[in-house]
Amino acid sequence: MKVLANDGIATSGIIALENAGFEVDLSTVAQEQLIDYINKNKIAVILVRSATKVRKDIIDACPTLKIIGRGGVGMDNIDVEYARGKGLHVINTPAASSHSVAELVFAHLFGMVRFLHDSNRHMPLEGDSKFKDLKKAYAKGVELKGKTLGVFGFGRIGQATAKIALGIGMKVIAYDPYIERANLELEFFDGQTVFFKIDTISRNEVLKQSDFITLHVPAQDKYVISDKEFEMMKDGASIVNAARGGVIDEVALVKALESGKISNAALDVFENEPSPEIQLLMNPNISLTPHIGAATSEAQLRIGSELADQIIEILG
Ligand SMILES: NC(=O)c1ccc[n+]([C@@H]2O[C@H](COP(=O)([O-])OP(=O)(O)OC[C@H]3O[C@@H](n4cnc5c(N)ncnc54)[C@H](O)[C@@H]3O)[C@@H](O)[C@H]2O)c1
Repeated sequence: MKVLANDGIATSGIIALENAGFEVDLSTVAQEQLIDYINKNKIAVILVRSATKVRKDIIDACPTLKIIGRGGVGMDNIDVEYARGKGLHVINTPAASSHSVAELVFAHLFGMVRFLHDSNRHMPLEGDSKFKDLKKAYAKGVELKGKTLGVFGFGRIGQATAKIALGIGMKVIAYDPYIERANLELEFFDGQTVFFKIDTISRNEVLKQSDFITLHVPAQDKYVISDKEFEMMKDGASIVNAARGGVIDEVALVKALESGKISNAALDVFENEPSPEIQLLMNPNISLTPHIGAATSEAQLRIGSELADQIIEILG
């Protein structure tokens, strides 16, 4: 049986599938040629990340398809309910990248509190001529230890982020309308574990009490953080969005940064991907990454294996 991994798949997945007798096709077929390609090659499984879209047209026109697989979490690029209604299996790998996203949040947080995002822009240009000025400009760093991290959305990634925060001595508070309490298990290198209970609190309290806010909610119909929410935050707080573009109102964010209401922001996701607004890209107080939350070798290996296991389970 043929598996088309149109947006790629890690070697772990290829090996597992081939060992189970599947043929893995690593072609990247253009969106408009997908229907022809799937039919001509009798593809049974199409695997995508976020680039390829699997909409009603493909689902209706490709009778050989049995599984649509998404390497990652969000399935906004797949007509999931429609496909399931037509008897197709739709699978994803919700847990595989949680820790990688959480570490990216901390890469941004550690960077922001010592101005690395700005220092890395200026040192190459002025590091030799204005060393002392730059040293002064970046002299007012703060530690994360002892500060309060507010987590919006206390699911897989929110909890993974909370664990790192606890490990470095931060206070963690969280808001999630569907989760009352989480019992986090922190695992250490030698097998020791520590359990840590966190009761979620109200949205307003998280907004008011946090020194740093990190967003881990699913894609939403309306902004989770806009003018009103920025207004409620502590003066000089910072915010990270590694969830989805459209969770933060980017216009309100720029306003809050310019007025000094919040001091820094970090964005891995944008309303207009892949062409984020220039006002965001040029803002010296925003730490930027191009949607790389899940882009680690470890996450990709786990994604590959988890997809392969599910495919083998369903069709093997
Ligand atoms: N940056 C990246 O590359 C990257 C990678 C993977 C996932 N993500 C994104 O991260 C987000 C979280 O993923 P996850 O695996 O933790 O999902 P999850 O489903 O495990 O957790 C999401 C949590 O948000 C809660 N929630 C829903 N609406 C809320 C709201 N308005 N306010 C507060 N909480 C709310 C839910 O109850 C749930 O507990 C998703 O948007 C996902 O697409 C980003």
